[in-house]
Amino acid sequence: MKKPTLLLGNCMDSMGTLEDHSIHAVCTDPPYGLTEFSPGEVKKLRSGHGGVWRLPPSWDGCKRRPLPRFTVLSSEQRKDIEVFFKSWAALLWPKLRPGGHVLIAGNPTLQMYVQSALVAGGYENRGTLLRIYHGFRGGDRPKLAEKEFPDVCVTPRGNYEPWMLFRKPISEKTVAENLRKWETGGLRMLEGGKPLPDVIRSFKTPACERAIVDHPSLKPQHLMRILVRALLPLGHGIVLDPFMGGGSTLAAASVIGYDSIGFEIDPEYFELAKRALFPLSALYPGFDGSVLDSAFSKYAPTEEEESYKQLYLLEKSEGYLDNPIERKRIKKAQKV
Ligand SMILES: C[S@@+](CC[C@H](N)C(=O)[O-])C[C@H]1O[C@@H](n2cnc3c(N)ncnc32)[C@H](O)[C@@H]1O
Repeated sequence: MKKPTLLLGNCMDSMGTLEDHSIHAVCTDPPYGLTEFSPGEVKKLRSGHGGVWRLPPSWDGCKRRPLPRFTVLSSEQRKDIEVFFKSWAALLWPKLRPGGHVLIAGNPTLQMYVQSALVAGGYENRGTLLRIYHGFRGGDRPKLAEKEFPDVCVTPRGNYEPWMLFRKPISEKTVAENLRKWETGGLRMLEGGKPLPDVIRSFKTPACERAIVDHPSLKPQHLMRILVRALLPLGHGIVLDPFMGGGSTLAAASVIGYDSIGFEIDPEYFELAKRALFPLSALYPGFDGSVLDSAFSKYAPTEEEESYKQLYLLEKSEGYLDNPIERKRIKKAQKV
């Protein structure tokens, strides 16, 4: 198991301290609307009131964790995403080796701003990996008119999470030469010489991981070990996560045996990540992301369980009104 390097700070300052060409790959899950992890929004999240964080529908009586609601972003805030990622991509450029891959968790309605910024910055767009899972995104009903339009939903129910894949162009004539010089340019195959597929069947972050790391955007180890492993074609090098959160990328890297560096701006999340690294890495012994699920399936909810939950959620769509903030908003609107 490798010991990662965790640094408290703003990645926009900290990336400058890295040595040039020291990073082989980046795997990260940035704050999507940029605002949801700003100090003001994190304060609202922790106090449980207002802001971009919303409680998802309660379909089975269980209290769910808040999710950021990106529809509240103004067009200016959306433009800011592109401006921010342009600077971010430029800061990363000298630190990343030619041929190094950058994998960024996306959001179907906002990711084009990130793609546009990275491509403008010289990175190649290498497509998207899809994490297939049953989330809570989309499927909303017409607000305040659910009964009037019982057969209408405003957006499709989300069942995937996109991960955008980019590559800094290779500097050598061929990928083989680039691999020899920089150890980058390709992706590592799965066990048995299978290329990484661009669709990965996944599930929500298991409760045992959430019990270790109380971060609202924690990604599951199953997915992270598969993704992180694939990013270093020769099986060694340094993976950077500039928006580390609860440290799921670094925990995955240390299980696989990769060196890794993570930055986190929020002191509470930073401490959480430090404490969580060892217990997260100790979960699922033997699973290093070299196979898609055979070694892991005993931990994952079965497809049947997942689709049952999904059906229940669709049938009980009035569950949206279980959110007290939404209920208050609706009552207020009805009075007007
Ligand atoms: C979406 S979360 C990442 C969650 C992570 N993938 C996990 O599994 O725990 C994004 C994180 O980036 C942090 N962050 C936001 N802006 C940052 C910045 N400029 N530099 C470093 N960290 C930042 C936030 O505090 C938040 O914890």
